[in-house]
Amino acid sequence: LFAGPVDFVKGVVKMEGLPPADRVEICFAGRSNVGKSSLINALTGRKNLARASNTPGRTQEINYFAVGEKAFLVDLPGYGFAEAPVAVVRQWQALLKQYLQGRSTLRRAFVLIDSRHGAKPVDEEIMSLLDRAAVTFQVVMTKSDKISAAVLEANIAQVMGVLQKHPAAYPELVVTSSEKGVGLETLRAIIATLK
Ligand code: GTP
Ligand code: MG
Repeated sequence: LFAGPVDFVKGVVKMEGLPPADRVEICFAGRSNVGKSSLINALTGRKNLARASNTPGRTQEINYFAVGEKAFLVDLPGYGFAEAPVAVVRQWQALLKQYLQGRSTLRRAFVLIDSRHGAKPVDEEIMSLLDRAAVTFQVVMTKSDKISAAVLEANIAQVMGVLQKHPAAYPELVVTSSEKGVGLETLRAIIATLK
């Protein structure tokens, strides 16, 4: 799947702007700054395909990327704290929720969680929304290069405990580092089975 071209399709700010629902979609959700855009770049091997930055709130639109002719990868704006005007943040959070609840071709949501922090209440809110919408979600732990194996183990255990409360949760998580290339092959293989 990832051998072929990957193209930016469009940035969407309203549900009406979504591209035709004619292929499988896999989205990347998570708190602002967790590493969604960086992970898409790492997975596709395209450094600046999705714009990443140290400022939380970088991605403010729903960005669509076509991988071959059968799948879209969807980079979402973050939830939680963001360095952007309140009104703007409110708008994109509403769009994010509408998208997660209302996109018929959404096959799986990856919920990214920072390996250093574990699952926070805002993550659980999104998980509950995905439960209600019956969208299968899978947790991806990000930035694993930034912590020790012991802390990583503890935070994985915390996340696994949280997942037990969520019926839409896929029971296995994936540990990644976009920086060091950890977990990318595993994720690509998962995505390839979903297309
Ligand atoms: P928003 O669009 O603002 O919601 O953020 P995002 O989730 O798309 O995060 P983004 O990919 O922009 O990354 C945020 C910051 O984390 C950037 O400075 C990245 O370089 C850094 N980062 C992302 N992934 C990793 C990783 O695996 N390891 C390390 N060390 N840093 C990372
Ligand atoms: Mg982003």
